Amino acid sequence: MMDNSGTTLAGRTALVTGAARRLGRAIALALAQQGVHVVVHYNRSADEAVATCDEIRRLGVSAWHVQADLADIGQAETLFERAVGEAGPIDILVNSASTFEKETIWETSAQSLEANLRLHATGPLILARALAGQNRGGAIVNMLDTRVTVYDRQHAAYHISKRVLLTLTRMLALELAPAVAVNAVAPGLILPPAGQDESYLKKLAHCNPLNRYGDPGQVADAILFLLRSRFITGQVIYVDGGYHMKGHMYD
Ligand SMILES: NC(=O)c1ccc[n+]([C@@H]2O[C@H](COP(=O)([O-])OP(=O)(O)OC[C@H]3O[C@@H](n4cnc5c(N)ncnc54)[C@H](OP(=O)(O)O)[C@@H]3O)[C@@H](O)[C@H]2O)c1
Repeated sequence: MMDNSGTTLAGRTALVTGAARRLGRAIALALAQQGVHVVVHYNRSADEAVATCDEIRRLGVSAWHVQADLADIGQAETLFERAVGEAGPIDILVNSASTFEKETIWETSAQSLEANLRLHATGPLILARALAGQNRGGAIVNMLDTRVTVYDRQHAAYHISKRVLLTLTRMLALELAPAVAVNAVAPGLILPPAGQDESYLKKLAHCNPLNRYGDPGQVADAILFLLRSRFITGQVIYVDGGYHMKGHMYD
């Protein structure tokens, strides 16, 4: 009889990019709560990365922090090896590091577009291939955005590069099968962007069919669900109150 029971996460090791703060931090802590050892990647938030590692260790698992600017291909190419050097083989990769710059296609520079593509697509590709190259299986979750389902003209470089990551998720799901499962989670209104507070979320909540905003724990739950499954790959879970069905932007 086939073993259809879910995968146990305890004892595995994860690399979470952009995990010092905000959603990445919540994902790292949710994994730690399941007994997963975590490599906390960060770029500029060194103090927050150390604090996140301390909190992870208090949950009884190991934690390491590793710095890399993922908009720099050279640094992206050495990140996985450095993470393995600290933690040993990596079973789980969550590509969460991101920027969210407000710029239309008229305002975005070639440099900004290229940096967004490196951070949101080339970096995740390099890390995914490195995980698969260990030849020990594993699972990857890419962080998308429900905005991939509409036309987000206000965040052109972000929008283009997250759509590339959506395509990459499907390509990698096919290319890395059967050893590695590759899925994505696409949040909607969860945390206010930089410079905004909770009033931003309250103001836009009515744009979701469920008329509310979410929290980081709900995003982490979707990630844990995907990581536990043994029969899901190439899937996107929208944690967005149903926003992805609306077909137009909310701001
Ligand atoms: N927040 C939401 O409500 C929401 C909604 C939709 C989608 N998402 C997606 O969910 C993920 C997490 O969201 P978030 O709001 O927590 O993200 P975020 O705050 O915009 O960024 C997360 C981290 O990415 C890191 N980062 C930025 N530029 C980098 C670079 N060049 N190299 C390496 N790391 C870099 C930063 O690390 P340092 O601080 O260490 O520099 C930052 O703390 C993102 O992929 C985002 O697109 C979030």
